[in-house]
Amino acid sequence: MSTQWWRDAVIYQIYPRSFADSDGDGLGDLPGITSRLEHLVELGADAVWLSPFYPSPHADAGYDVADYRDVDPIFGKLADFDALLARAHQLGLRVIVDLVPNHTSDEHPWFKAAVAAGPGSRERERYVFRDEPNDWESVFGGSAWSQVADGQWYLHLFDVRQPDLNWDNPEVREEFENVLRFWLDRGVDGFRVDVAHGLAKKWEAPSGKGTPQPPGEPSLPLAPPAASINPDERPPMWDQEGVHEIYRSWRAVADGYPGERILVAEAWVDPLERLARYVRPDEMHQAFNFAFLLSPWLAGPLREVIIDSLATNDAVGAPTTWVLSNHDVIRHATRFGYPPGAKPPPGIGVDDPQPDEALGLRRARAATMLMLALPGVAYLYQGEELGLPEHTTLPDAVRQDPTWLRSANAVRGRDGSRVPIPWTPGGPSYGFGPGERTWLPQPPSWDRYALDAQRGAAGSTYELYREALRQRRAYRPGAGPMEWWDEAGTDAVAFRNGELLVVSNLGAEPVRLPAGARVLLASAELDDPTQVPTDVTVWALTS
Ligand code: NOJ
Repeated sequence: MSTQWWRDAVIYQIYPRSFADSDGDGLGDLPGITSRLEHLVELGADAVWLSPFYPSPHADAGYDVADYRDVDPIFGKLADFDALLARAHQLGLRVIVDLVPNHTSDEHPWFKAAVAAGPGSRERERYVFRDEPNDWESVFGGSAWSQVADGQWYLHLFDVRQPDLNWDNPEVREEFENVLRFWLDRGVDGFRVDVAHGLAKKWEAPSGKGTPQPPGEPSLPLAPPAASINPDERPPMWDQEGVHEIYRSWRAVADGYPGERILVAEAWVDPLERLARYVRPDEMHQAFNFAFLLSPWLAGPLREVIIDSLATNDAVGAPTTWVLSNHDVIRHATRFGYPPGAKPPPGIGVDDPQPDEALGLRRARAATMLMLALPGVAYLYQGEELGLPEHTTLPDAVRQDPTWLRSANAVRGRDGSRVPIPWTPGGPSYGFGPGERTWLPQPPSWDRYALDAQRGAAGSTYELYREALRQRRAYRPGAGPMEWWDEAGTDAVAFRNGELLVVSNLGAEPVRLPAGARVLLASAELDDPTQVPTDVTVWALTS
């Protein structure tokens, strides 16, 4: 396997509950994933990131971990994880697991011991217990503090069942280094680090200065408010200096293992200069580029975010990542089905304005081809290779995202992006599992999105992804550097990257390709191979 694989890899996110169910209980599991790993090879991905599969009461779909060194029985056993990892490695796929260090579950033995031991105890020092709460608010709505029976309050920036750990306590630091080693020893290729911007808190300035719930960004329940570059003006719970020494120590742990094990920051940090500080040479390897994900389908903002992303990462020698969908946001095939710049609600319900599904898919395909041609690392979220939209008509009664309850039914939340994916048309659960059960209902219209309906079908979204990934390997746009092609005009995002000319047309008029250009791949059928129509991306050779 090549060195520095993480600089231009394509990494596929698996959300274990919704990928493949081997035993028919309606929840995906590790044996299900193992049985479907060939799909990732056929698609052309280099690595898998697995969202949490650890023992958990699932108050936040597994991002509330009760045991960091085991597998939840609903997903299988530790031996199933080992089998998954061995099979992935045999197929040439790397495996990244999710690490959730900001908080544990309230069922973690440490938290149970802290509640039992009482105020002033060593057990309480592992968490954040206070005699009085402050004004901080939970990202999921409501106060960030809850009271235990003896009257003390504990901090939870997320759900009440996700108590925040106290990262000022050396015991917490030591424990997580050991957790890293536990999985590195088993052979994992890296970690996606949850809420990486949240571990260190600034206690001297206890005011929340605005809630972590972003009024300006309603489609993203998890984005904190735009932060200032001035440390004194940033909210005291996000992006504090103290996080960096933690990641330096983790980098040293990861570097102690052969084969380039990586750390990936999930950090909702703004502006991009601040995010780049997480990927300085002795910290993490990558950070998710949410600024790119947040960009509307408009040429100006997209060009700007691409320029800024590359410049800020180049300045620290890190690869830029690109991502359009994940389990926390509205899938991009649906986001782009609303007018550019219009914000869909934070979780779409049956009585909300509905997206234009065909337009959303057309733009999503164009956006994906743009993303896959950029220098750096691309993240794909399971189902996007099928062009899968959000489930926008889920009955409210089946919603499971804690935001729905904690916001007193104001924020419908993220369930719509987490619905079990369709593999075969027709059958019960569209081939997700052997039976009909699925932990969230699938919409009746998903036959046409099923993998088997698209495999081998000319023009299908799946075949477009496969071909794009095949050509990405051949032409290596991930290696960069790129050069802007301004002749395409201001309504296009157009550049040369190695041998490729890449043109995304976001304007109303077609964009003419240079004379002699030979189209390699287009995100929609072209009537005229010399022009790029509206909402289409073309990769061409010009020499
Ligand atoms: C980010 C995860 O992606 C999200 O799903 C989770 O709710 C929060 N972190 C809290 O762990």
